[in-house]
Amino acid sequence: MTRGQAWKTPELANKYLSGVRGAIPLANEQIEVMMRLIKATGINVGSFLDLGSGDGILSAAILDNFPDAKAVLLDFSEPMIEAAKNKLRAYNNIDFIVYDYGDSSWIKKVAYSFPFDIVVSGFSIHHQTDSRKYELYKEIFDLLSADGLFINIEHVLSPTKWIGSIFAEYFIDSLYRLQLKQGGKMSLQEVAGEFYNRPDKEANILAPVEKQCEWLRRIGYKDVDCYFKIFELAVFGGRRVNGDNGV
Ligand SMILES: C[S@@+](CC[C@H](N)C(=O)[O-])C[C@H]1O[C@@H](n2cnc3c(N)ncnc32)[C@H](O)[C@@H]1O
Repeated sequence: MTRGQAWKTPELANKYLSGVRGAIPLANEQIEVMMRLIKATGINVGSFLDLGSGDGILSAAILDNFPDAKAVLLDFSEPMIEAAKNKLRAYNNIDFIVYDYGDSSWIKKVAYSFPFDIVVSGFSIHHQTDSRKYELYKEIFDLLSADGLFINIEHVLSPTKWIGSIFAEYFIDSLYRLQLKQGGKMSLQEVAGEFYNRPDKEANILAPVEKQCEWLRRIGYKDVDCYFKIFELAVFGGRRVNGDNGV
């Protein structure tokens, strides 16, 4: 069974959407980097896929720039897909698919829309084992159109425990500030306690961004880079240049 099943509960979905998502440090900048890369391809985006879409925050940014693009949002959490339908209700060119991408069968669910100019994913793939991450990156490569781009905005592994602890403090401070702004009364210690005991933490299988970029290069992606990184939050990906099949 794929990890991260806690995302299917309304409790975790709501907690993330109303709190954690808004506390992710430099989240707007991450999305800006994603959009710059998408625009830099020169593709007039006709179709894109958002894997582990949550409420469609990344899709919203793409649709804002390419309102006529055909969007496919896939997530295995019903409450998340419901939130996405609500957020993106102004658009009628979207397919919402409730499905688990934990094994290759998900490809059949999106094959009717193949190929995609852009594939994005936000803070989702890190629940997969490293071998499954690699397979998934290959599956995404095969779904991309010539010159298509894959961008993963992702939680990655700190190189050392010390660096990891700096990230944890940074994130906790941000969570604390957000809950104060929202009228919450939790102390910094209480916020830290919740952060260290969060239900999705067990399901994390973080991998270093360098290793993941190396996998993308091996698969055949071009212009692979970690385009942005602040501690454990990274924006990385690559392009499928001129239909190059990677061999
Ligand atoms: C942390 S949320 C991120 C949501 C959104 N992408 C964002 O950037 O805010 C992770 C999302 O990935 C989804 N997810 C995790 N594992 C999945 C899987 N194996 N198949 C489909 N969706 C998955 C969860 O349901 C959840 O909506």
